[in-house]
Amino acid sequence: MEALASSHTQSVDELAVTLKNFGLESVPKAPNTYPALNPVDIYRSHTTELLASVSGIDPKIIYPALQWTQTLDKGDLTLPVPALRVKGKKPAELAVELGEKLPESPLVQPPVIKDTYMQFFFKPAPLTSLVIPSILKNGSAFGFNPNLGLRDPADPAKGRKKMIVEFSSPNIAKPFHAGHLRSTIIGGFLANLYEGAGWEVVRMNYLGDWGKQYGVLAVGFDKFGSEEELVKNPIGHLYDVYVKVSAISRDEAEAIKAKKEEISALRAKGEPTEEQQEQLKKLEDEGVDEQARKYFKRMVDGDAEALGVWKRFRDLSIEKYKATYSRLNIRYDDYSGESQIKDESMEAAARTMEEKGVSEESEGAVIVDLTKYSKRLGKAIVKKKDGTSLYLTRDIGAASERFEKYHFDKMIYVVASQQDLHLAQLFKIMEAMGRKDVAERCQHINFGMVLGMSTRKGTAKFLDDILRDVREKMHEVMRTNQAKYEQVEDPEKTADTLGISAVMVQDMKGKRINNYHFDMDRMTSFEGDTGPYLQYAHARLCSITRKAALSDDELLSADFSLLTEEHAVDLIRQLASWPDVFLNTVKTQEPTTVLVYLFKMAHALSSSYDHLQVVGSEEALKRARMALYAAARQVLWNGMRLLGLSPVERYGSIVSPFLPLSLPSYRNPLTSCPTVLCSCSVQTHY
Ligand code: ARG
Repeated sequence: MEALASSHTQSVDELAVTLKNFGLESVPKAPNTYPALNPVDIYRSHTTELLASVSGIDPKIIYPALQWTQTLDKGDLTLPVPALRVKGKKPAELAVELGEKLPESPLVQPPVIKDTYMQFFFKPAPLTSLVIPSILKNGSAFGFNPNLGLRDPADPAKGRKKMIVEFSSPNIAKPFHAGHLRSTIIGGFLANLYEGAGWEVVRMNYLGDWGKQYGVLAVGFDKFGSEEELVKNPIGHLYDVYVKVSAISRDEAEAIKAKKEEISALRAKGEPTEEQQEQLKKLEDEGVDEQARKYFKRMVDGDAEALGVWKRFRDLSIEKYKATYSRLNIRYDDYSGESQIKDESMEAAARTMEEKGVSEESEGAVIVDLTKYSKRLGKAIVKKKDGTSLYLTRDIGAASERFEKYHFDKMIYVVASQQDLHLAQLFKIMEAMGRKDVAERCQHINFGMVLGMSTRKGTAKFLDDILRDVREKMHEVMRTNQAKYEQVEDPEKTADTLGISAVMVQDMKGKRINNYHFDMDRMTSFEGDTGPYLQYAHARLCSITRKAALSDDELLSADFSLLTEEHAVDLIRQLASWPDVFLNTVKTQEPTTVLVYLFKMAHALSSSYDHLQVVGSEEALKRARMALYAAARQVLWNGMRLLGLSPVERYGSIVSPFLPLSLPSYRNPLTSCPTVLCSCSVQTHY
């Protein structure tokens, strides 16, 4: 076990030995491919070599034309012949001709020609011998490719590209709404994705923590605040305070309006208004609004006491958020926020905009007329009449500051599609200001709405409430199977983890831009494509692993040629495609790309159990099948971790979170179930 743990990743030499057994002299390797990380690269290189040798076509054209398939019945790789760009020959004829000319290959079967497509099916025996060890040796790094994020793949010493993922970004003393929930889940996933691709990722939370409302909050805290409550539940308490003080401020606004009406009515009648004027002034001067304005002014002017109070609210809220984020396997490198943006940055931006003629005065305010670039961008206000900054102004300052601080190669804003216009304006203004270099590196990742998200006690306000409700619901679902429920070690904790998976998977199941219904019954079901279903698939594999109780060596030295059943071969073909699914996900930036794959695999797994018994089979077969299932468990684990889920090993014991994704195997796949060798616990069926 030690030896394996230290041998980390699969090496090319090991591949060479395996391939030699199948009659290949060397490891086929086209430029910029990674056979030790992605076994399918071997097949692409090999098929390219074969095709080039019979056609004389440049391998540089053939290689990228070889595509992965949507379903395995279309082959493991497919070649749309028109992509070879051969002139003067009908593609369908060329397909047949190439198919006939191709020499016998040790790795792929003679191609199946379907019209203008050549479908390549991998031969099972070599595939199995390549893929299973590759997965077991690469472990939690299998499928990821840290080379993608290199500045220069030819010279790793030049370092990694840097990325900021800004996500979640809730507002202090305001509800954590569905938009924040989605941003948190999708942003967490994207950060993992790019880390898995070898980027240096900075996870940034950009809190809504500035503006007059924080003056309102401070005034409110004076009236209704409780020190004890604040420490106990800062987010909830500050929100309550804010709601109460806002109600007062609304009442006052109405009283002021009424008073003004009274005054104009008196004036119309030519009656004196002095007394009412006095009352109006008192209302205005002593009201929450004015106090808040003054308080916020003190904050802006850097008054230590005012800032101290506000900072405490902020710090306590962040502490609380941290705890909740960690339940979703999320941690931040930078808790930034609107308050952190320096006046200098905004002033410098304002100067540049003015100098470059980007901005103009309009009725006392400063605006940028973006209609000259595109009608839909409209006109954006960048400075209010009273000189105060706006959400947009702060974002302009933030983008410049972040670039100064991090020199990022890419920055992703994970924000609901309701803010499409805001971000489009931001990027265009940056460009117009002469910061095309920054604007070009920015990307808005948007997403649709969650419909009907409410807790049992009313409309959802906070992340914790949502998670609490889902946990309770999950617990109920678990209780419906009393026999299984009794085997669960820590039902509360298990319900919590499964509930979180339920929420996250539901969120990531569809394309980001689609709206979806928050459906508690559906998401907590163990049937259908849900989080609990995936968790179940993983726990079941762990259970088999525990029962089989085989060592790493026993698995790696298994006779893979015994895996000949259709179910086994199909499973291996699917496992082989995980690194390509990962690559494709980097392109789509869609968590659903991963989920569609994982569900397909989970289905293949569940239909395989009856055909591929492990415990109870004779020794050699048991070892080979267990190696297959260990590999499947690893891939499932890697995919779930990429999504930000905490895979359960058995009900009540959860794999520890916060493992980096892209680093070489810090976690041995065969020992990542710590109980592998010593325990044979009850099977966890749900
Ligand atoms: N706090 C904002 C809101 O709740 C989201 C911030 C999005 N990020 C940004 N850089 N504007 O609407």
